[in-house]
Amino acid sequence: MSVTVRVPAKVNVQLAVGAARPDGFHDLANVFLAVGLYDEVTVTEADELRVTCAGPDAGQVPLDRTNLAARAAEVLAARYGIEPAVHLHIAKDIPVAGGMAGGSADGAGALLACEALWNTGATREELLGICAELGSDVPFSLTGGAALGTGRGEKLAPLEVGGTFHWVFAMAGRGLSTPAVFREFDRLAQGRDIPEPVASQQVLDALAKGDADALAAAVTNDLQPAALSLYPELVETLKAGRSAGALTALVSGSGPTTAFLVRDGAAAEKVAEALRASGTCRSVRMASGPVAGATVID
Ligand code: C5P
Repeated sequence: MSVTVRVPAKVNVQLAVGAARPDGFHDLANVFLAVGLYDEVTVTEADELRVTCAGPDAGQVPLDRTNLAARAAEVLAARYGIEPAVHLHIAKDIPVAGGMAGGSADGAGALLACEALWNTGATREELLGICAELGSDVPFSLTGGAALGTGRGEKLAPLEVGGTFHWVFAMAGRGLSTPAVFREFDRLAQGRDIPEPVASQQVLDALAKGDADALAAAVTNDLQPAALSLYPELVETLKAGRSAGALTALVSGSGPTTAFLVRDGAAAEKVAEALRASGTCRSVRMASGPVAGATVID
């Protein structure tokens, strides 16, 4: 028997970052939007826990127990006294180390798939708790839609969204490590007062209205200066998308994927074409959101 779960990527339409906490994490006001780029995780009964991955970036995905999909299976199995004897296969379409929660998506996907396979009876709350243990962005990969994440990003409040937002994403030539980007944020913040992160009312209103122009005027990412400091070439990608008519351009989460908000599908085609022609990125994808979180499809 096997179960397949489809899980979306995310873009952050606001990422407000506070000062480093004693535990090394940062308090966030993190407005997540799930977008239609997906990984699929298939779990099948096997002799022992094993992870495989296919897709253009598959070579960069760890197949050992550090993979969040493997950890999700182990944590759920340990709670319910089950042997995690499963084969987890990840069909990967979300960029690896890209700032779009690809690893988190696989964790949430594997958790939901294993739950469907084993029928432990774990409640949604319990699954969300396990997601939060696995990583700050993993709960959102399970819920999808749009949400405000506080704490280190794992405490979620769902948000109303009044329309569909169209995006173009430019995948960069190499990845960026999230801890490295937060460390660079700390370095750049030295000697400055970092305010408490708070959700932007403008961002929330723009989402609620489904108003792309208002959202474009309101998006912020406090990790962007750190990502650009570690990956200065991204400035050229941002410029290329802006000059092709994107309403706004920003780094997605900790990067290095860059995200371009556009008015509609036709504008998306135009911006995507210009980004491809610019030679400033590895590949280009179009996706819109919000979309549902982790879902059993088979
Ligand atoms: O929670 P997760 O394991 O995804 O976080 C990866 C790394 O990102 C952490 O080890 C930490 O360095 C950084 N991080 C942070 N503050 C957050 C979330 C992540 O400093 N709120």
